[in-house]
Amino acid sequence: MPVDTVHISRHDTIGRVEPEVHGHFAEHLGRCIYGGIWVGEDDRVPTDDGFRTDTVELLTDLDLRLLRWPGGCFADDYHWRDGVGPREERSPQPNHFWAQGREKSNVESNEFGTEEFMRLCERVDAEPMLAANVGSGTPAEAQNWVEYCNSDTDVALGQERAENGHSEPHDVTYWGVGNENWGCGGNFDPETYAREFRRFAHFMRLAGAEETIACGHIEDDWNRRFLAELTEPDMLDHLSIHRYFGRFGRDCGSATEFDEEQYYLLLAESLKVGRDVDRAAAAIETYASTDDVGIAVDEWGAWHPEATSDNGLEQENSVRDAVAAAGVLDDFNHRADLVSMANIAQTVNVLQCVVQTDEEAAWPTPTYRLFDLYRPHAGATALRTTVDTDAVETDLWEVPLVSASATTDDDGTYVTLSNRALDEERAVRVALDREVSDATGEVLFADHDPADYSTRENAEEFEATDLDVSIEDGAPVVELPPNSVAGLSVESA
Ligand code: AHR
Repeated sequence: MPVDTVHISRHDTIGRVEPEVHGHFAEHLGRCIYGGIWVGEDDRVPTDDGFRTDTVELLTDLDLRLLRWPGGCFADDYHWRDGVGPREERSPQPNHFWAQGREKSNVESNEFGTEEFMRLCERVDAEPMLAANVGSGTPAEAQNWVEYCNSDTDVALGQERAENGHSEPHDVTYWGVGNENWGCGGNFDPETYAREFRRFAHFMRLAGAEETIACGHIEDDWNRRFLAELTEPDMLDHLSIHRYFGRFGRDCGSATEFDEEQYYLLLAESLKVGRDVDRAAAAIETYASTDDVGIAVDEWGAWHPEATSDNGLEQENSVRDAVAAAGVLDDFNHRADLVSMANIAQTVNVLQCVVQTDEEAAWPTPTYRLFDLYRPHAGATALRTTVDTDAVETDLWEVPLVSASATTDDDGTYVTLSNRALDEERAVRVALDREVSDATGEVLFADHDPADYSTRENAEEFEATDLDVSIEDGAPVVELPPNSVAGLSVESA
């Protein structure tokens, strides 16, 4: 069996893994909100205050950390006032981007609005992140939304919020200033968006938007031209980038049907996320320090060709997708000094979701299990980690067969490892720069093929199982099944 070595230096710290890096994204799209999270007062599944209790329980258990809403493309066509006040008085509006709900209708009922979203965040204990409408909105509309959410009841919008059931401010810290404004968010050029960003961010900040997120791009040209137009560095806290893998790059097959070459190509495509972060960081450095401006990867994940607008961007969620996401989360740890937040798309039923639902039940996907396994990294300090392993050639670039990252906190060191090899077990030695006294491990997908996906009937089979860890010459050694992901808790002597 091939033996790989992971080298971890406990003295070489990278930075804190911001808990918001384990964030999620929920858009008014397909069955994400309507059907997956919100079913209203009267439905076939058990609900509490209109929320599906099964979905909410799963999301609460996962510790979502950060939830971005209402879009996506939808955000730049959303007028928040349509979604507040007595529900029966809210008017239906077109959803120009997406069909949604069970009926896949292009009508947005506005049943689920700001107060419902805030109640969801309270229930699942997630920090809210709102994306304001720049594309079809005005600075005043965005400023009013901030004021509605964050002001005291001594001003009219605070009073209105109180009349809608919440007298205390919602204290929303994170405000996106538009979404993909180079495309669905208004087809801006970077200079025009920069001017809009300055105007919007200025007035949103006056009303209490503590941290603003600007729309960036995975293309350097946009970021550099946008940043060159900013005159007041303080206005920008995060620059956003989005990266989907599967549908847009090389042919990676579908979610559940792929050959060996396509298997590795998806993993190769997923490696783009880390490189996108590095390029965005280099662009930021031309304008400000990356200590002051973080990178928000506020949409990422697998998007397979079968997920189309017609089916509400639904796809199966396979082990391969989760293994790819493991590498992305490791890459975020390696860049803990750069990545300030990240949101995998999209929480329920859509794209690389963590929960899927039908009319009767909700169940976790393999990606849900992955986020659960990576939970100890959130809030801990990332350690410099390198891996000596083999690599597979692809049409794009090499894919190292083992991915790893490590963090430390008062509980010790936590190491995540994935064996990306399609059909080969690999032994991995975890070499820390001090002797290890004890280590325990868990592994995901040990008995699964990469194309296996979760269903209502089999979801429990994807739970983590115990992994044998032996200590050899003071270093933990594990044997990782093909396409599996492990988490090791390590105590030093
Ligand atoms: O997540 C689906 C869509 O992908 C979002 O609405 C948009 O921001 C991105 O292009």
